[in-house]
Amino acid sequence: MRDNNGVFISGTGSYAPSKTLTNCDLARMVDTSDQWIINRTGIRERRIAGTEEKTSTMGSLASAAAIKAAGIHKDDIDLVLVATLTPDMFFPSTACLVQTQLGLRQVTSFDVGAACSGFIFALEIASNMMKNGNFRHALVIGSEKLSSILDWEDRKTCVLFGDGAGAVVLSSQDRLGYEVIDSYTASDGSQPKLLHMPGGGSACPATPESLGQGRHFLKMQGQKVFKVAVRFMEQSVRKMLDRHGLIPEDIDLFIPHQANLRIIEALARSIKAPKEKFFVNLDRWGNTSAASIPIALDEASRKNRLQSGDYVLLVAFGAGLTWGSTLLKWKY
Ligand code: UT7
Repeated sequence: MRDNNGVFISGTGSYAPSKTLTNCDLARMVDTSDQWIINRTGIRERRIAGTEEKTSTMGSLASAAAIKAAGIHKDDIDLVLVATLTPDMFFPSTACLVQTQLGLRQVTSFDVGAACSGFIFALEIASNMMKNGNFRHALVIGSEKLSSILDWEDRKTCVLFGDGAGAVVLSSQDRLGYEVIDSYTASDGSQPKLLHMPGGGSACPATPESLGQGRHFLKMQGQKVFKVAVRFMEQSVRKMLDRHGLIPEDIDLFIPHQANLRIIEALARSIKAPKEKFFVNLDRWGNTSAASIPIALDEASRKNRLQSGDYVLLVAFGAGLTWGSTLLKWKY
């Protein structure tokens, strides 16, 4: 076993499907308007995957970009985690499909199911697996094809979500100072119906009836989810700051899950941090669930919003309910 200090992000990548669906396009499909969607969510457009673009293929393309950015060879990867709620299929895991699409060695690969918080959970798992010294470089991916589980006649949900993938290469730490410093994760399964897809699993296998009842579509009680999202994201930020004796001013960039601009603004108000410190790209992507944070991290990095030595705080919330945060000292 090697003696490691920790792990750090050595490369990021993302993938956007080429098809863009604007709010005006949606207004031709359901009873909504560009103005309603912008005012209530901040979303202007989202990407929609084509038939040949799967959760695995989008994850593979994002990963290839992250491997290139990290300056390593694909044979250096020895762990693959995919956070997703829209896997290509129940099994094999999407991570195994990514492994073969990228032509990796026979490395440990599995999926993580924590909905929109999935990337934070996967980062925590991968970091801890790597700290024992058995893994040197890991791919941690968030990839989603949410368009495949949306009811395109339900204006309360279909306007909110989009498709895409983001990935990071997590590498063993050789030098102290830059790292994935800490993660906080939590769950509360007592209210599963706030945000769920009732059909398709073993409790409600697909039948003509279940299809007719629309049980294979994402369902959400939007207002209730909104309130708990703000509360648990605030808790996640405070927990991490308190653990490390930090104050909001110490954080250079917050990268929140991109569900709704009003949620992000409410979070900024509640922790008394300027909203300019919150990275926002949901206007162009919508909510891409587990992919939202790694896509945002890749954009922030490529747009030079992140400098070496910056404190970065990732914070997410999702179905389950699940929530959490990750504190990074940026180096890449
Ligand atoms: O990533 C996982 C976490 N997910 C989230 O964080 C989502 C959290 N929830 C939200 O972001 C917001 O609750 C929504 C954006 C989903 C909804 O915004 P809201 O301000 O909570 O609206 P609402 O549900 O209270 O609906 C207000 C009105 C209703 O009409 P009435 O009953 O007041 O006449 C809705 O029927 O807006 C109506 N409405 C729409 N109108 C036009 C709902 N959806 C639409 C729509 N276009 N797309």
